[in-house]
Amino acid sequence: MANKRQAWGTRLGIIMAVAGSAVGLGNFLRFPVQAASNGGGAFMIPYFVSLFLLGIPLMWVEWTLGRFGGGFEHGTAPGIFHTIVQKNRFIKYFGVIGIFGPLVIFIYYTYVESWTLAYSFFAITGRYAGANTQAAMQSFLKGFQGLESNQYFSNLGPAYIFFLITFLANITVIYYGIKGGIEKLCNIAMPLLFAFGMIIMVRVLFLGTPDLSKPAWNLVNGLGFLWNPDFSALKSAKVWLAAAGQIFFTLSVGIGVILTYASYLKKGDDVVLSGLTAVSMNEFAEVIIGGCIVIPAAFVFFGPAGTEAIAKGGAFNLGFVTVPLIFGHIPAGAFFGCIWFLLLFLAGITSSVSLAQPAVAFLEDEFNVSRKKSVTILGIAAFILSQPAIFLLGKGVVNELDFWGGTFCLVVFATIEVILFAWVFGMEKAWQEIHRGADMAVPKVYKFIIKYITPLFLFCILGFWLYQDGIPTILMKNVSLADRPFVLGTRVFLIFIFIVLAVMVKIAWSKKRGRKVS
Ligand code: ALA
Repeated sequence: MANKRQAWGTRLGIIMAVAGSAVGLGNFLRFPVQAASNGGGAFMIPYFVSLFLLGIPLMWVEWTLGRFGGGFEHGTAPGIFHTIVQKNRFIKYFGVIGIFGPLVIFIYYTYVESWTLAYSFFAITGRYAGANTQAAMQSFLKGFQGLESNQYFSNLGPAYIFFLITFLANITVIYYGIKGGIEKLCNIAMPLLFAFGMIIMVRVLFLGTPDLSKPAWNLVNGLGFLWNPDFSALKSAKVWLAAAGQIFFTLSVGIGVILTYASYLKKGDDVVLSGLTAVSMNEFAEVIIGGCIVIPAAFVFFGPAGTEAIAKGGAFNLGFVTVPLIFGHIPAGAFFGCIWFLLLFLAGITSSVSLAQPAVAFLEDEFNVSRKKSVTILGIAAFILSQPAIFLLGKGVVNELDFWGGTFCLVVFATIEVILFAWVFGMEKAWQEIHRGADMAVPKVYKFIIKYITPLFLFCILGFWLYQDGIPTILMKNVSLADRPFVLGTRVFLIFIFIVLAVMVKIAWSKKRGRKVS
């Protein structure tokens, strides 16, 4: 007998869940680094162009395709693609990317998420209070990650304990299902996250000029450092790619998770306004809150040259080295540090549960396995698959997982989705499907954008990306000789996961054919 598919409890619930998936570590760590190192305020031009030509259209495409697939009891891309192109036996294998990508991101994302939980604990207990230089804080982080044994940590034990807590928290939420787990979590976590974000933002905006001997190191100049445009950056393809990549990552589009979330909608539920609301919440969290905290605060304490070096050091450095130092300079820094890392943890967990859900939905929908059993299978598999990211962190494994799962697959999957939607499903039918039960009309120009501009933009990105980043990455140009065996090993590991998922798709459909015949 078929399992009854799960459903969202309320409309607010799914909006909070999609916004929860979108608002993540990317908003508060990745965005400020990208903006500061790609032309400051000028970065916002390609960023908003990408938002309107890629992000918003893809969001609508995924909400619509997901709701459509849910009507046929399919919550993941293999089933949804097969429903659209029944005649083509191969199309469902392209859909494997929509389970593979989120699973691959999940296996390293939860580990990074667990650092935020650990650091909120370290902040309030004063564990890192003695490390008050960049070098000391860096060594604290390295000790914690097990990359070196030092005066702060002698092994990976504490990090592993926080990983176990975080992993179990994720699995517990999914175990309780869409309404009882994910929706409940997001209804509590999202308002809390915004409240924490506003508190920290207001605190940062009142920093003024803390060191009167350096009057130029003030908050206004800090905001200017991030937001003053350097228009010459617009001529660089790299800046455009960075902006488009940020839009994908931050909105969680092209991953496959929104398809799954939307598959639990009812046929007549609105997708247009709900999708737009989730995008707006994400952009508020990213541009307003994310853009006003770390970089301006870093400027105030470390000045222009220091901030530039920090931005170049990447998102982890900014989040786990610079921010603790910044809060160390202000009164009640332990409290602010704690809520900053809790904010990151809430942002992380509401995203990671969405990354795990496609694999669970796949087992439930295509193999008719109960939810609890599906979550148990995923839990065991994901736990085993997470181990290389933890133990081989310093060997380039996480970067490799992030490139394939969190960057490459997103663009490829989005391209397939939009072509299927606009060209195979057909734009007239697609337009009707988007507007079923809609609370607002999509501006007509989007009919043209979805059909021509979004796919063209995606092809350009894919081409440039392959040329600029893809080929050097495939050839391991930026990997040290010592790390190459590990990076190659990660690739074999990824191919193995992909093949297992593809074989599972084959088995699921053979069974379905068998059932039809008998
Ligand atoms: N959208 C999620 C983030 O921004 C994955 O972190």
